[in-house]
Amino acid sequence: MAETRRRARPPDWRDRIIQGDAREVLAGLPDESVHLAITSPPYNLRIAYQTYGDDLPPEEYLRWLREVWATLHRVLVPGGRFVLNVAPTSIKDFRPIHHDLSRDLRGLGYIMRTEIIWYKQTMGRRTAWGSWRSPSNPHIIPSWEYVLVFSKGQWKLEGDRAAVDITAREFEKFSDGFWHIPPERKRHGHPAPFPEELIERLVKFYSYRENVVLDMFGGTGTVAAVARRLGRHYLQVDASAEYCQQAAERVARAVPPPGVAVPPPRLELRPADSVPPAPPPVLPASRTRSRSSR
Ligand SMILES: C[S@@+](CC[C@H](N)C(=O)[O-])C[C@H]1O[C@@H](n2cnc3c(N)ncnc32)[C@H](O)[C@@H]1O
Repeated sequence: MAETRRRARPPDWRDRIIQGDAREVLAGLPDESVHLAITSPPYNLRIAYQTYGDDLPPEEYLRWLREVWATLHRVLVPGGRFVLNVAPTSIKDFRPIHHDLSRDLRGLGYIMRTEIIWYKQTMGRRTAWGSWRSPSNPHIIPSWEYVLVFSKGQWKLEGDRAAVDITAREFEKFSDGFWHIPPERKRHGHPAPFPEELIERLVKFYSYRENVVLDMFGGTGTVAAVARRLGRHYLQVDASAEYCQQAAERVARAVPPPGVAVPPPRLELRPADSVPPAPPPVLPASRTRSRSSR
């Protein structure tokens, strides 16, 4: 029966920063143990991450992510939320990747709740106009990213009214789905970190205090640090030992609100001999793009 098949829940599955492969680590987590997952996967835009080339053929990229999403589905509680941030692809090789991802997630049984537009206010720095002042071939510059929101099985997430911490003013503001938030300027040693404000809004809007918040492509720990600061338990996975170490230091500095006990992180690095021996070849600067330059 379903109950007996459930993985035993170890007392310490929360509040960890784990170096590893997203799908493998998720496969080892107990059933129904996460209330909110927020992530931004590698975008397949040749961004120079520490251990990852970010350059798979499109179908292979989507197939790999489908496996991660399928594993996540088991790990979410009923009504648990999955928030997927994705940037538009490059102008030249444009592909509506957010449509592909939404189709795949709905095909796996997720309910699609909404799509938030994160407007990054980066137009002041635009350079690529295409055909300037001419209809022959003008370019639209993606000055936004998508924040796609899904639920597992049901719309409603059960929780205690006393564990709600969003104010009326915040609720009103965040429920308007066009979010003006500038990109993160403090890079924390990572090419594409989330701005903390984006994560604060999502955590407060979609979870209760003491819920468990996961990022399985966690980078330098924005989701985990904000979750702890807002009194949520957290779990972060990333393939890079260096990003995990930085994340652990950052999360340790994030102080939970008074009266909420969320411990500092336990950092779990792979044994040295199983760490990938070398990062993939660094791409020439002209092919390497960072989030803020998109
Ligand atoms: C877009 S970044 C996420 C940045 C993060 N949101 C932050 O605020 O720092 C994607 C991350 O996925 C990690 N990554 C790449 N392949 C992975 C894999 N198979 N499993 C887990 N993490 C992986 C990269 O090291 C990179 O840090």
